[in-house]
Amino acid sequence: MLSVYNINVWYGAIHAIKNVSFEVNDGEIVALIGANGAGKSTTLKTLSGLLRSRSGSIKFMDTDIMHAPAEKIVEQGLVHVPEGRRIFQQMTVEENLDMGAYTQPKETIASNLERVYEHFPRLAERRRQIAGTLSGGEQQMLAMGRALMANPKLLMLDEPSMGLAPILVEQIFEIIQALHQAGTTILLVEQNAQAALSIATRGYVMETGTITLSGSGQDLLHNDDVRKAYLGG
Ligand SMILES: Nc1ncnc2c1ncn2[C@@H]1O[C@H](COP(=O)(O)OP(=O)(O)O)[C@@H](O)[C@H]1O
Ligand SMILES: [Mg+2]
Repeated sequence: MLSVYNINVWYGAIHAIKNVSFEVNDGEIVALIGANGAGKSTTLKTLSGLLRSRSGSIKFMDTDIMHAPAEKIVEQGLVHVPEGRRIFQQMTVEENLDMGAYTQPKETIASNLERVYEHFPRLAERRRQIAGTLSGGEQQMLAMGRALMANPKLLMLDEPSMGLAPILVEQIFEIIQALHQAGTTILLVEQNAQAALSIATRGYVMETGTITLSGSGQDLLHNDDVRKAYLGG
């Protein structure tokens, strides 16, 4: 479904992504784990067209998207929930969700909204509430709900559990699994390696801009190097 080959991304003189290649197959949950600063967010931003690679190729559903504008990439079904949940703080929950549907034909918006409220009953209860007054967990749900409004085939989540209490982390991971079961392929970036690898079909480990290890979620979860570096022994 997604095939990334030999991408290289710079911030000025900083070579942030070095010859990174990986793939995501239809129906998978793929985890991309690694320490702070490893290059995970930069990778997602490059896939969604916010940053550009100087080499290699990025193919999504057999289309070369390496030079495609960000809104075209969303339209094709590759949708990014950025780190830090950038929702529109002054707007209501439902207005935020409507913003997520800007690539969609009018007829599908109502049914998409219904589907989002099924996955996130909490958002349905708060549909008229100003988004800035939601809790952190609810804001994460809203960011994910907004992405769902764009009908993603592949949903890229950047650290959905960041800053959330353990009970909410658990809820967010349950929702990710429910979305996956409902047919959405997932690329999950996390510092919470334990939680991410536990639900992942496959995973990749990123260190200082390079992929250093890959395997099934279970293999990585039991790998000694991964345990030492990311799972506290
Ligand atoms: N806007 C930026 N300008 C310059 N350097 C950046 C910028 N954003 C990230 N970096 C650097 O790129 C590297 C990768 O960052 P990032 O992709 O955010 O890592 P991660 O998401 O894995 O924590 C880090 O060394 C970071 O300091
Ligand atoms: Mg990041």
